[in-house]
Formats: sequence, structure tokens, C-alpha cells
Amino acid sequence: MKKTHNKRTMRKDDSPKDELMLVQNSSKKLKNSSHKKKGKLEKKNKSNIQEFSDVEDAIQCRKVFLKDKLKSKSLYSGENFYILNTDFLHLDELHNEIDLIVTSPPYNLDIKYKSNDDKLMYSEYLEFTHAWLKKCFDLAKDDGRLCLNIPLDKNKNGMQSIYVDITSIAKEVGWQYFTSIVWNEGNISRRTAWGSWLSASAPFVIAPVEMIVVFYKKQWKKINKGISTIDRDEFINWTNGLWTFNGESKKRIGHPAPFPLELPNRCIKLFSYRGDVVMDPFLGSGTTAISALANDRVCIGVDIDTSYCDLAAVRLKKFGDELNDKKNQPEQLNFKIF
Ligand SMILES: C[S@@+](CC[C@H](N)C(=O)[O-])C[C@H]1O[C@@H](n2cnc3c(N)ncnc32)[C@H](O)[C@@H]1O
Repeated sequence: MKKTHNKRTMRKDDSPKDELMLVQNSSKKLKNSSHKKKGKLEKKNKSNIQEFSDVEDAIQCRKVFLKDKLKSKSLYSGENFYILNTDFLHLDELHNEIDLIVTSPPYNLDIKYKSNDDKLMYSEYLEFTHAWLKKCFDLAKDDGRLCLNIPLDKNKNGMQSIYVDITSIAKEVGWQYFTSIVWNEGNISRRTAWGSWLSASAPFVIAPVEMIVVFYKKQWKKINKGISTIDRDEFINWTNGLWTFNGESKKRIGHPAPFPLELPNRCIKLFSYRGDVVMDPFLGSGTTAISALANDRVCIGVDIDTSYCDLAAVRLKKFGDELNDKKNQPEQLNFKIF
């Protein structure tokens, strides 16, 4: 996992000493203006350092609060993550706490999940969608964001405009629409049948893409200052709303519908600050949690199925071990099993 430290955005790296040396090296002729500049820079650096330590304090406070609320309810927990094995609709511990939700819900495609029926009547499926989107809305902060990975269309068990329907429900429960990203899933063919081959009688048309719909609760601009961890090239590439990367293999991960790490990675780096609280209400194999930890965020993951929570914990532990090996530091992820 690549870990990016962005000098531009991580203000800690804009060392005051370097900037002051620059001032000291200027010629005598410029002495007066240098003095002024030095004063300004010192002031700027002081306020940057103050800002940085305020942000750090806020991150630490939030961690203490979450530990208090969630540790005893979690199936697995660690310094920066909580895995809750429950029906997301029954999660009652938090209100207005989440900075970013990144998730991919069940698509109602008759996938053989272990603990939930993925073949509801479409109307029932939309009712369930309404309930969990409302819950997400209650949990998000006022400047909280939601990145929702859903199909564009659904052609199994009847054609449905699933992206349009879920987007409308999200708006109905209060989410403000921001944008839609098209994920061009390079290695996936969604083609299952031609309908009527070489005939206008009843041909099928299906786009081999999924959507990532981005919403916010009340205001798009972040209320508080924070530390971004995205670099220049990532920012330029990912703000183009056509994302092309491969899907994830079910077999490799051991879950019937995992998304690739690249998906939460991009959402987390583009839409959240370091130390932010990221939630996935349908955690599955734990991909969002891995990405959150890799990017120094705090993650709350929920899944109704115990074995998927176990899988997420195993993947997180493996990731944590690799990270600790690299850093040559003692164990940082503490696991607790009820
Ligand atoms: C599409 S998968 C998520 C996969 C995940 N993004 C990953 O990378 O592994 C949906 C997950 O939602 C879980 N799920 C279904 N209904 C749920 C509910 N009511 N509450 C919590 N989790 C639920 C399923 O067990 C499944 O693991």
C-alpha cells in the first residue's frame, strides 16, 4: 500500500526553519524588506503550527469519544477502527459523528450473502434503501459526505434504473446531491445475453460501468480545517469523474462482492482529511477499513454477517502487520473478540 505524504498539504513539513534561512540568506540591500518578510513568515508559521496542533487535538478528542462509545459494542476494535457485527439499521450509538461514508450496499442481484436475502421485491429493496440512507444521514456531520457505489442499471430479474432510483431516495431523505463519478470497471463484462441477436425485436443494452454518487448532508465546504493527504497528480486525475480501474476478485478476497481498494482509497483521499471518521455500513470484507487505516483515518465498519466481520479483521490484521513490519514498530492494532 502506497502511503503518500504530501508536502504541500501536510503543513508540518513546511519547516519554519527553512523559510527563515531563506530570509537570512538574502542580501543586505534587501535587509529591510527581509525583516518585514521574516516577521510575516514567522507569523504565518506560528499560525500554521497552531492550526496543526489544533487539528491534532481535535483528532485525539474524537478518538477518545469514539473509543468510549464503540469499544464495548465492537466485535473487533483497535486504535483507529471498530468493526460492529450488527444490522446497520440497529446502530444507535452515534449521531452527527461521521465525516465520510464510503459504501457499496447489496444490489438485490440474488448474490448469495450469508446473512441477508439479496432477492427482495424491488419495492421492498427500495424501502430498505430508504431506511439505511436515512440512518446514514442521521449519523453524518453537517458537512459529512457520502460516496455511494451502486450500479447504473440492473438487468437481472427485470430491468431497473437502480442508480436513478437510489439517487432520488437519497435526496428524499435529505442528502444533497453533489456529483456522479463513472467507474469504468475494466475487467468486468456485464453482458449476460443479447436479447434478440441482430434484431431490433428486443435487443439488450447494458453499460459495463458502475457509479459512485457523491452527496453531502448540509454544506459541501468543510466546516473545520484539516490536513489533506492527496498529492497533485492524484487530485488532477481523480477530479475527472471518469475513473478506470479493475474490479476485485471474489475468489481472491473470499467475499461474494468486494470492491477494489482503489475505490475507497480515491474517495477517502479526495473527500476527507487525515484523522476523519470514515464509516462503511456494509463493510463486507473490510476494504474501506483497510483504506481508512492506510490513510490515517479512523474507520467504523458494520456488517450483519459475523464471518464477513471475521474476514475484515483478518485482512486488517494482515495489513497492520505489514505496516508494522515496514515501520519496525510494535503491534499497533489491538484485537478484542467477545
Ligand atoms: C456489496 S457487499 C460489501 C462489500 C465490501 N464493499 C467489500 O469490499 O468487501 C454488502 C455487504 O452488506 C452486508 N449487509 C447486508 N445487509 C446488511 C445490514 N442490514 N446491515 C449490515 N450489513 C449488511 C452483507 O453481509 C455484505 O457483506
